Amino acid sequence: MKAYAVKELQHPSKITLTTDWPEPVPKKDQLLVDVYAAGLNYYDILQAQGKYQIKHPLPFVLGTEFAGVVRKAPAGSAFKAGDRVFGAVTGAYAERVAVDPGAVTKLPETLSFEQAAGMYVTWPTSYEALVGRAKLQPGEFCLVTAAAGGVGMAAVQLAKGLGAKVIGAAGSQAKLDIVKKRGGADYVVDYTTKGWQQEVMKITGGKGVDVIYDPVGMITDCLKCIAWKGRALVVGFAAGSIEKVPTNLILLKNISLVGIFWGAYAIREPAHLPTVYREILDLLASGRVSAPVVYERIYSLETLSEGLHALETRGTYGKAVVRIKAEPTKAKL
Ligand SMILES: NC(=O)c1ccc[n+]([C@@H]2O[C@H](COP(=O)([O-])OP(=O)(O)OC[C@H]3O[C@@H](n4cnc5c(N)ncnc54)[C@H](OP(=O)(O)O)[C@@H]3O)[C@@H](O)[C@H]2O)c1
Repeated sequence: MKAYAVKELQHPSKITLTTDWPEPVPKKDQLLVDVYAAGLNYYDILQAQGKYQIKHPLPFVLGTEFAGVVRKAPAGSAFKAGDRVFGAVTGAYAERVAVDPGAVTKLPETLSFEQAAGMYVTWPTSYEALVGRAKLQPGEFCLVTAAAGGVGMAAVQLAKGLGAKVIGAAGSQAKLDIVKKRGGADYVVDYTTKGWQQEVMKITGGKGVDVIYDPVGMITDCLKCIAWKGRALVVGFAAGSIEKVPTNLILLKNISLVGIFWGAYAIREPAHLPTVYREILDLLASGRVSAPVVYERIYSLETLSEGLHALETRGTYGKAVVRIKAEPTKAKL
């Protein structure tokens, strides 16, 4: 089968598609799934070069988040052949995967495989951050940095659906337009402009934002516009360095600094996962939250390197996705 395999550690721009990768053989309890679409993640670029904290023995297939159709399920499984699912696995950039049933969720007909391809990690990260960790309340102001990015766009859409007043911050006018039009942000600010925090203070009537959602690693900058008793979420470090936040600011501003590590929930709180996925799918089904935003160019396995390059150079918005198999029916959302 076709697979985007890493045979030696190198930049993805040097990877060529393997057309004779061995078919996966599911273990006794595993599902065999035809992959229709998979989501691109920044850590793919690091993993291909051996620069990510999770290292796989060579050779391995790249990619994690995917959506597809169950081809084979063990007897007595909660899944059956033909079920539409989305999930996470090592080696999602391939025509088929063998996956543990605990790492997939059933996908409603209303969502396309492309929309769901980047949902399994991205959306619960933003949902659990906002709801479980920062306890975002309706009517509160929520500032999202890198608001046009994968987790950022999901945070904008979810915060809006949860009734917050959302301020999306991004690095170009084109991205700000997307955050407003597609993400539904109430306000947008260009965080490359000096003194952008004053604009946020003005928007909030001088109060500041109640919740900061930061996947960039710019918490200290954002604290200039946080409200009394605000909560600042440490989500990631897309800018490349791990920030050291002055703790006197946490004291003086009477705020909380809150972490989110979604990947660890599968190990530490596996029983919580189905609740989070159900609540996300309920919000999408109710129409309170708009469907996941997919980047305008859909890649193929043959052009995947171009997609990873676009991601690396900040050229994408929402979720960049690779289509591996065409969907037979049209999604309704
Ligand atoms: N905590 C968790 O459980 C969890 C889960 C998933 C992801 N994450 C983390 O969240 C972060 C964002 O992931 P993502 O999938 O949303 O990435 P993404 O789609 O690539 O978006 C990242 C955005 O960050 C902004 N950015 C600012 N400075 C940057 C720089 N120096 N280099 C590159 N981008 C920069 C860019 O937007 P502008 O052009 O608008 O500035 C870029 O589009 C990553 O660090 C990831 O590891 C954390």
